[in-house]
Amino acid sequence: MISNKMHQMLKGSSTIREMFEEGKKLATIYGKDNVYDFSLGNPSVNPPTCIGDQICEIVSDTPAMELHGYMNNSGYESTRQAIADFINKEQNTHYDYTNVVMTVGAAGGLNVILKTLLNPMDEVVVFAPYFGEYRNYVHNFDGILVEISPNAPTFVPNLEELASKLTARTKAVIVNSPNNPTGVVYNKDFFEQLASVLTQAQQKFGTSIYLISDEPYREIVYDDSQVAFVPSFYSNSIVGYSYSKSLSLPGERIGYLLIPSECDDFEEIVAACNVANRILGFVNAPSLQQKLVERTLGSYCDLSEYAHNRQILTTELAKMGFEFVYPQGAFYLFIKSPVADDKEFCKVAKEHRVLIVPGSSFGCGGWARLAYCVSSEKVEKALPAFAEIAQHFGLR
Ligand SMILES: Cc1ncc(COP(=O)(O)O)c(C=O)c1O
Repeated sequence: MISNKMHQMLKGSSTIREMFEEGKKLATIYGKDNVYDFSLGNPSVNPPTCIGDQICEIVSDTPAMELHGYMNNSGYESTRQAIADFINKEQNTHYDYTNVVMTVGAAGGLNVILKTLLNPMDEVVVFAPYFGEYRNYVHNFDGILVEISPNAPTFVPNLEELASKLTARTKAVIVNSPNNPTGVVYNKDFFEQLASVLTQAQQKFGTSIYLISDEPYREIVYDDSQVAFVPSFYSNSIVGYSYSKSLSLPGERIGYLLIPSECDDFEEIVAACNVANRILGFVNAPSLQQKLVERTLGSYCDLSEYAHNRQILTTELAKMGFEFVYPQGAFYLFIKSPVADDKEFCKVAKEHRVLIVPGSSFGCGGWARLAYCVSSEKVEKALPAFAEIAQHFGLR
């Protein structure tokens, strides 16, 4: 018999993954080309060519024991130092390898930092809509997830509600910009105000409240959108980064936590993250991938296809009468459901072989997420199906 906790987790298991499986099933019935699967944030563009080249070079020029052996659980010092130097150059900071812990993607990093910080019943605040896995990650360590309601239509979080929900048990707040599922990028004013609310709460309760900035989409922005560097606003910030999206390497599982020295209890946190990486069973982030990101810092995927998809979808869906948040980053379009029940909207979409994910999976009913990390050809081909869906709901 499985544990009660896993029983609960199985019950709430990811709708996104279910949709992905559903897409594969539909593809066997209608043919892959006739199914429009916008369910999963699996990058569709190739990694830059330096990725393949460097993998070959690393494998041929690194001694086997160095490449394949165990290492410090926080990762190779040279990789961590190279990342610190890279951030220092971009952000005018003074980090070194001690501020960086290599992780098994953003998911690994979030689990490591939550394991490090949480006592049972500690509260972690998230802003709806949010990446649904946060719920599981917080429950992994018996924390309590506290949701701030969605602030439609801008989806810039409501900080008054945040202030009212911070308590002496608040251990962390998770923020994600560019955002999954809305594509919204929070500006400097927002982070200044957020820092002020958190600082006041820390003073009021005499506690440390860590701001965990989950940034797998940091470089995926459009037009002139700027992504804020969160630690410059609030000293108890911890950044979780991943190369899953910026280098199209989600299966390779590589990312890092940046823990600034200004954080309260910095040394203990860094030491605990090292142990958490080990005892959660990651032991360390994949060795080849660490070497790879060290050699390819500053390289990114070509984002032009995502930008093109965004342009086609926002133009054409608006003409059909759909309402959505105009995305400034990531590769998601958050569409207002034409009916109150977002599951009904997604069911009808599926009848037209379009797979999108109900907003309720992100803590935001009445909306749905479309992941446009697919080929532009797929987007173009899906437009008639969207027109049929619009007609079904009597949109313009
Ligand atoms: C907001 C957000 N955080 C974390 C993750 C997990 O990323 P990774 O593949 O690096 O674990 C994702 C993946 O889609 C995400 O969208």
